[in-house]
Amino acid sequence: MTEVFDLHILITGGAGFIGCNFVRHILKEHPDADILVLDKLTYAGRLENLDEVRDRIEFVKGDICDKDIVHKVMPGCDHVVNFAAESHVDRSISSPEDFVRTDVLGVFTLLEEARRCDVKRFVQISTDEVYGSKVEGSFSELDTLDPSSPYSASKAGGELLARSYFKTYGLSVMVTRSSNNYGPFQYPEKLIPVLVIKALRDQPLPIYGKGTNVRDWLHVDDNCRAIDLILNRGEPGQVVNIGSGNEVSNIELAKMILKHMNKPESLLSYVADRPGHDFRYSLSWDNISRLGWSPRVRFEDGLRSTVDWYVSNKAWWDTIA
Ligand SMILES: NC(=O)c1ccc[n+]([C@@H]2O[C@H](COP(=O)([O-])OP(=O)(O)OC[C@H]3O[C@@H](n4cnc5c(N)ncnc54)[C@H](O)[C@@H]3O)[C@@H](O)[C@H]2O)c1
Repeated sequence: MTEVFDLHILITGGAGFIGCNFVRHILKEHPDADILVLDKLTYAGRLENLDEVRDRIEFVKGDICDKDIVHKVMPGCDHVVNFAAESHVDRSISSPEDFVRTDVLGVFTLLEEARRCDVKRFVQISTDEVYGSKVEGSFSELDTLDPSSPYSASKAGGELLARSYFKTYGLSVMVTRSSNNYGPFQYPEKLIPVLVIKALRDQPLPIYGKGTNVRDWLHVDDNCRAIDLILNRGEPGQVVNIGSGNEVSNIELAKMILKHMNKPESLLSYVADRPGHDFRYSLSWDNISRLGWSPRVRFEDGLRSTVDWYVSNKAWWDTIA
């Protein structure tokens, strides 16, 4: 990224997986940026994810649904990127309430304050899951939303509200919908860390159904570059898909991981499918291509380095997995 601008940025959910990678990305690409991270530190948010950059950012522990905290931290920030969310589909099936609260009410609370503070740019991080499943072809940004889980439905609610603030109040909102991310610091309830950690422990690797469900895997570094670009040059009101073209079935993914770790396929264990499990996600990403972005990380390389990160950082996951 070549642009340099005076960036006072509020990053909510910056202690989670994508958020902490984004904080590092911004500090690398815009070393003079003023970053304030607001994070509730739920089970998924960990302050140690920011250890490396702790002296270069301001951190506030707090809830995006708490309007007093949001009112205290947002003034002075001209950019907001909202990563804060309840993000695990299985948890949304067993306890949907937290998802509706954070992923809808939390977004509303941020938008209201952003409107009051006249924030210059507000990026709402949404997900490809808002489209639902696609057996053939790929979703474009113009396709209808058809979410399947309380997680994706709450994310759809949050992003629609964000877009309405552009149309109604002229707030400069942009929405990103990315495919499944992978990389370092992902909480060990998500598929890739689950598989790697089970394999390291020589335990059965749980595969939903027949393992034929397909996901498009995007390296978190590619996503962070895309979000930075949108923050800089995205068009207000725009929705931007961020995909990678790395469509892999869950069973293929598990086999790739086992192969890289020199573990036997006999560790694969098929378990009952998730209710409402979307079969396949697939995106086209013309809007961001026009801004000059394309994914850079080859899936085989990114997967290998991610597996190696979990192997080398046992202390990070051992007590939470
Ligand atoms: N991980 C993916 O593959 C993926 C793909 C597409 C979109 N997304 C979206 O990207 C964003 C980040 O995802 P992630 O995987 O990093 O999630 P994560 O679960 O790892 O991190 C979420 C962060 O938000 C914080 N948080 C949760 N509730 C909060 C609240 N009420 N107030 C303040 N902070 C709160 C948590 O403490 C945590 O630090 C989410 O909005 C998610 O919907 C994720």
